Amino acid sequence: MTFAKNQNFEQVYLHSSQFPDRVYQDYLEGFKQQKIPHKFHYDSVKQSQKWLKIHQVFSPSRNNEDCVVSYEQCFEKTATILNHKSVVELIGLGSGGGTKDTLLLSSLVTTNKELIYYPIDVSLSLAVISAQKARNNYPQVLVKPVVCDLLYADNLIKQLSSENNSQKIITFFGMIPNFTPEEILPILNNFLNQDDILLLSANLAPGDNYLAGIEKILPQYDNDLTKDWLMTILTDVGILESNGKINFTIENDQKISDLKRINAHFLLNKDVTLQLDEEIIKWQKNDQIQLFFSYRYTTEKVKIILQEYNINVVEYWEAPNQEEAVYICQKL
Ligand SMILES: C[S@@+](CC[C@H](N)C(=O)[O-])C[C@H]1O[C@@H](n2cnc3c(N)ncnc32)[C@H](O)[C@@H]1O
Repeated sequence: MTFAKNQNFEQVYLHSSQFPDRVYQDYLEGFKQQKIPHKFHYDSVKQSQKWLKIHQVFSPSRNNEDCVVSYEQCFEKTATILNHKSVVELIGLGSGGGTKDTLLLSSLVTTNKELIYYPIDVSLSLAVISAQKARNNYPQVLVKPVVCDLLYADNLIKQLSSENNSQKIITFFGMIPNFTPEEILPILNNFLNQDDILLLSANLAPGDNYLAGIEKILPQYDNDLTKDWLMTILTDVGILESNGKINFTIENDQKISDLKRINAHFLLNKDVTLQLDEEIIKWQKNDQIQLFFSYRYTTEKVKIILQEYNINVVEYWEAPNQEEAVYICQKL
């Protein structure tokens, strides 16, 4: 039987960073340290479906036509700045539902180049959703979904690419807010080579007053749908909603003083004991379990911080409401 040609099978590449024993160690560590890594909010089908729903309701890129136009303009421009190479490899880091990467493909197919798309996500469910979306819309594109944790995959790009005669476009849409700059930017810098194009988007704080801008968009996080999504990892191990409360706060980055993020933690109102396999984990009343954060940037901050990691913003498009922007970047 040829699996590749059989519609009942989807071929997915699983990077060692997401091998089950590795993932389980990260999972236990998250509970022990009271810091849940973001990747565990997207892991199950239930969580990824909840996240897709939130994205549909609150993301400007899904519900604001002007914001979609910014992406379209960026993607049309990208198609015009490709080099002479006959193959384009599109590497979608944290591809999510794949909507933005598929929109990008709609511009890239007009170039008549051979296209290979790698939707890469920590969630199997989301990597496959991205792959199928792209393939259904553009059957001529070779699609190879990869499950991978970007934080533990230094060698990823070198191992993916088999093509010598290709130009790489790396996308990093909506990702930069969910990592500290110091953990993710060295990785992006390492992934990017001189001829590559990096497209990234960031959630912004709108208006001239940075803090007031963040306060304005806080309801996009502090809402029932988001709380229900973030609670899933806790309810799955037996913690009840009545055992505490999710609080959203605005806090400073620990290294970059004028960069802020929205933070969510679960404040326990009683002691709880968790049994995860052999491990007994004891949490106490008033402990704060770190669940999630999202940095809010301004374009000025994006430019300055990327530059520190040798990444240059070549051109950008901000949505008129200034809540999101998309950037074409290259290595300095
Ligand atoms: C905010 S969403 C952005 C999705 C998509 N790029 C978009 O703009 O709609 C973050 C995505 O990153 C994935 N993700 C989170 N942590 C990750 C990690 N450490 N490595 C790879 N993917 C990760 C999640 O599964 C999710 O699909």
